[in-house]
Amino acid sequence: MVSYKELGLVNTREMFAKAVKGGYAIPAFNFNTMEQMQAIVQAAVETKSPVIMQVSKGARKYANPTILRYMAQGAVEYAKELGCANPQIVLHLDHGDSFETCKSCIDSGFSSVMIDGSSKPYEENIALTKQVVEYAHKYDVTVEAELGVLAGVEDEVAAEESHYTKPEEVIDFSTRTGCDSLAISIGTSHGAYKFKPEQCTRNAEGKLIPPPLAFDVLHAIEEKLPGFPIVLHGSSSVPQDEVDTINKFGGKLPDAVGIPEEQLREAAKSAVCKINIDSDSRLAMTAAIRQHFAEHPDHFDPRQYLTPARDNMKKMYIHKIVNVLGSNDKL
Ligand code: G3H
Ligand code: 13P
Ligand code: ZN
Repeated sequence: MVSYKELGLVNTREMFAKAVKGGYAIPAFNFNTMEQMQAIVQAAVETKSPVIMQVSKGARKYANPTILRYMAQGAVEYAKELGCANPQIVLHLDHGDSFETCKSCIDSGFSSVMIDGSSKPYEENIALTKQVVEYAHKYDVTVEAELGVLAGVEDEVAAEESHYTKPEEVIDFSTRTGCDSLAISIGTSHGAYKFKPEQCTRNAEGKLIPPPLAFDVLHAIEEKLPGFPIVLHGSSSVPQDEVDTINKFGGKLPDAVGIPEEQLREAAKSAVCKINIDSDSRLAMTAAIRQHFAEHPDHFDPRQYLTPARDNMKKMYIHKIVNVLGSNDKL
């Protein structure tokens, strides 16, 4: 058993309380590779932002759970080396699908876990979430739960349609489970294709304009649970300049569309205090690599193309922190 406290990590409790009060959101960036981890830490240190580094089941399979845990420990030391005396870094399990996975993460040094019972019937979601909360709280690990279904793919769970969170359920759910934060469904979804073209309108350049998020549902939830930390998954904005670069240099991402940043900024000012971003990092990395290969067909040293990839991700992370979530200067 390794406690996250020994690794210099923190849980989300204090971070979320400050974010809800301060009207900003903490960035939750997924990572699978060393370059993503380095870019996240560099961005967080330069902007003086707390940060959640999150690991999905797929990331654990890709990179190896032990390696990811040591990378998070390394992230804390790296932040200190970059001049941040007291980094606020959370290591979070994204979309935990069972008690066993959550327990294994808690036992190996995670400071926060998500148990995603959103695809289960209501009472089963409550029972599973409660079981994880009871274990996690013994070790002062915080727990995110989910109520409502996001369209798209959540690791291996795929849902054709989204079902907004029902505001009338949130008090019962949070009270009976004891969860520390609640992921809700208000129209976001995972991946780079968040809306079908027929759900959108098009602007003069032919780009898709998505329908707005259900802010009425968010406000109704906030009224039921004043000050309770709310989480938004599926919050990449799918920057069109990155999509254009990918398509220009041999990629094929037609009609990729995300959540407009103005709407995320508005959500961050409310009780939404954690905003999950993964796809935008993938796009930033891929755009830089595709461009690099097109311009330097003779390069084959991974450092040559991973350096611009890392720099482009860092630029994106800084932009999100400063211009969208507002978590800069909050350490
Ligand atoms: O919620 C989904 C995250 O973007 C993680 O994606 O399961 O492909 O690692 P992944
Ligand atoms: P995106 O696919 O919009 O980046 O969402 C990531 C996410 O919600 C991870 O849990
Ligand atoms: Zn998610």
